[in-house]
Amino acid sequence: MAARIAVLVSGSGSNMEALADACTAGTVPGEVFLVAADRKCRGLEIADDRGITTQLVEFSAFGSREDWSVALRDAVAAAEPDLVVSAGFMRILAPAFVDAFEGRLINLHPSLLPSFAGAHAVREALDFGVKVTGTTVHLVDHQVDHGPILLQEAVPVFPDDSEGTLHERIKAVEHRLLPEACRLMLERGS
Ligand code: GRF
Repeated sequence: MAARIAVLVSGSGSNMEALADACTAGTVPGEVFLVAADRKCRGLEIADDRGITTQLVEFSAFGSREDWSVALRDAVAAAEPDLVVSAGFMRILAPAFVDAFEGRLINLHPSLLPSFAGAHAVREALDFGVKVTGTTVHLVDHQVDHGPILLQEAVPVFPDDSEGTLHERIKAVEHRLLPEACRLMLERGS
């Protein structure tokens, strides 16, 4: 039986879509059963169009990060996922969520961690003047953008790059790297 994958999104959802495509193509031995978001976003619409179950657990509807994380945890746990993938999810998860999926919760981050953790990784890499940045897929622990690294790949920075052009070049790599990391995780667990 295909492994069950839940994906957390906040934005355009292109990595979720690449992962769902890889599952459909059979290169990842799983299926995206649930896409959950903290806000209304394009990623939820794409999932809905593909017939994937969606869950909107709006951060703004809760009084605290802890309460919101518990509600999101319960929504995701109800899908009984083998793997939970944070792919462009722009909120910090409280320990209640992280602990529930320990060892099967992974995050995608657009830099070569531990450089440029945080929400503005691409802009900060550009501002710093690095000639090479990249992307990282890692297991999630209790620190932001931190935990055992599964895969990393370098991406060159060109002299005329804007934040947008550099991020698109990084995303093109992520669309291959994230499914590969999911495949490794699922094959390891089976
Ligand atoms: C990706 O670059 C990911 O690394 C970062 O946010 C971006 C999400 O893009 N955390 P998308 O929503 O998958 O298109």
